Amino acid sequence: MDVFGLLGNPVGHSLSPPMHDAAYEELGLEARYVTFEPEPSEIEDAIDGAEALGIAGLNVTIPFKQDVLDCVEADDLATRIGAVNTIDFTGEGAPTGHNTDAVGALRALRDHGVTVDGARAVVVGAGGAGRAVAFGLADAGATVEIANRTASKARDLADEVPGATGHGLEADALADLLADADVLVNATSVGMEEDETPVPADALHGDLAVLDAVYRPLETRLLRDAAAVGATTVDGAWMLLYQGVEAFERWTGREAPVDAMNAALRDRL
Ligand code: ATR
Repeated sequence: MDVFGLLGNPVGHSLSPPMHDAAYEELGLEARYVTFEPEPSEIEDAIDGAEALGIAGLNVTIPFKQDVLDCVEADDLATRIGAVNTIDFTGEGAPTGHNTDAVGALRALRDHGVTVDGARAVVVGAGGAGRAVAFGLADAGATVEIANRTASKARDLADEVPGATGHGLEADALADLLADADVLVNATSVGMEEDETPVPADALHGDLAVLDAVYRPLETRLLRDAAAVGATTVDGAWMLLYQGVEAFERWTGREAPVDAMNAALRDRL
């Protein structure tokens, strides 16, 4: 029996257990995915304990994604992003840390026919999600513009991301950036609590692919506005799905049953 799981606090409403359990069932794997809520002061002990117990893999979520960096051998992308969301215990040496949020966003876009290499991309948000998406897109060959309410944070992040430029979130600045953009990603929490959008509807156009990292609700105001002008829309569940798919494939070395995982996820949204 292989044991996988999620470290976070709180983790009660996580969609990862049903998503991963659906994959084990579909492939007939003897595995379980369980959730753990350690105290922040115990995170290092939690990882040492997981290793000692033979746990095969852990996902990591709020508030531990940054803390875990120092407890594992983080790969280059996770180190640059400054956050680990997947720990792999299956190798010979120390546990390794990875960030599958970045690849999750890329696979969500590619799954919808979007070419990222050579694309002009606008990332709204410069928090944890914004960092992951900005590095992921830049690594995949996109030119990245980062727009954030706190413009200084966008500029600081842009200094770290190859070829990126940072901006504020003013309507005219956004309209200019989006006029010749191919991809727009909302990596803020705007749209989650209320029916609001970080991007004015009239800045959107039909040649855009719009990914919203928000998945509750699935159809955000941004995605409604984008669909209304004929843009390609990619909801946040796709990003959530593919970060899980990527973790599953790293841990098991098997191709993930994407349809079964997607169905389990969407059943609960
Ligand atoms: P996460 O890890 O989900 O990215 P975070 O690190 O707290 O969360 O980042 C939240 C992001 O959403 C930030 O980019 C934040 O902008 P600021 O850096 O200016 O705070 C953005 N955000 C949150 N609420 C916002 C709002 N009402 N309007 C615009 N941006 C908002």
